[in-house]
Amino acid sequence: MQDPHGHRISYLRVSITDRCNERCTYCMPHELQEWLPRQGILTYEETLRLIRIAAELGVSKVRITGGEPLTRRGIVDFVGQIPEIPRITSIGVSTNGTLLAREITPGKTMAAALRDAGVQSINVSLDTLDAAVYSQITGRDFHAQVLRGIDAAIAAGFDQIKVNTVLMRNRNEDQLLPLIEFAAARNLLLRFIELMPVSTTEVLNESTFMSVMEAKRVVESAYGSLIPETEFRTNGPATYYQIPGRAQRIGFIGAMTNLHFCESCNKLRLTCDGKLRPCLGSYLEFDIMRPLRAGASNEELKEFFLGVVERKPQQHDFRNNYQPNRSMIAIGG
Ligand SMILES: C[S@@+](CC[C@H](N)C(=O)[O-])C[C@H]1O[C@@H](n2cnc3c(N)ncnc32)[C@H](O)[C@@H]1O
Ligand code: SF4
Repeated sequence: MQDPHGHRISYLRVSITDRCNERCTYCMPHELQEWLPRQGILTYEETLRLIRIAAELGVSKVRITGGEPLTRRGIVDFVGQIPEIPRITSIGVSTNGTLLAREITPGKTMAAALRDAGVQSINVSLDTLDAAVYSQITGRDFHAQVLRGIDAAIAAGFDQIKVNTVLMRNRNEDQLLPLIEFAAARNLLLRFIELMPVSTTEVLNESTFMSVMEAKRVVESAYGSLIPETEFRTNGPATYYQIPGRAQRIGFIGAMTNLHFCESCNKLRLTCDGKLRPCLGSYLEFDIMRPLRAGASNEELKEFFLGVVERKPQQHDFRNNYQPNRSMIAIGG
């Protein structure tokens, strides 16, 4: 699958739920969110069918996200079926980490079960090492639980564990260096992410936004000039640097300020309510659940995918387009 701008689509981000056990201000601003009814969510069978079709069209990497994907029942059995899909070579899960350490059978954590099911990489969100600030950001007191979750992920032996930190001025700008040390001590790949306007303007405004350039300056004032690692890439749009004198690398995801951000985009998103989104930062979405449930053949669904890719924008529209009515939790971050 290639779009008109030369983006080769090899990566499908699959949201399996709009529900979450946390309430991050920048993701789900309203406490009393109404969840989608169960029949409005793709079943696991439907989701697997769509992943299979995407794989036939060239997708090789899948990342499961949400909402909080680990809150959906049956996730381990679901992800365990993805490695059986021909051509899928990389499976990741993005999580807030709160449930990774939970024992799902005696002596076996969720993290270990996911690893055994074939998940290779785990992304854990962690914006601060300060438990009180964590509660302010997420609306929940799960900080210690997340740290236990990260330990469980390390014990489970994933190929890669990333920690994603959303940059917020006056909230966690004092946490950049502690988080770097935290990641260094555990051999985790830390990435700093610019706040994106998928929430309300109270959450993202000039006083809360912190650019990756600024974060880089803070890091460099402590460690010296970072060394660009142009050859190193994961599946996403992060740019990576090595910390001088260390083996540690850190990443920056400048969705708002990096004007080249979209050039290497290889992504398509499937929301839990069966919409294909060619770009996180645009209103465009296409309802594939309707033809799927109306009995479309695999060939027809393939055509649907190709039509969506055909409409993939050249770049996202975040810089001049707030999306207050569709929060990150509904899109699948
Ligand atoms: C929507 S969450 C879904 C997976 C999981 N619940 C988690 O928190 O990692 C995926 C990622 O999106 C990020 N995110 C949510 N809202 C965001 C925003 N407005 N700007 C930037 N990143 C955001 C979160 O920090 C998280 O790393
Ligand atoms: S960022 Fe993740 S943990 Fe936070 S509210 Fe959104 S889905 Fe939930």
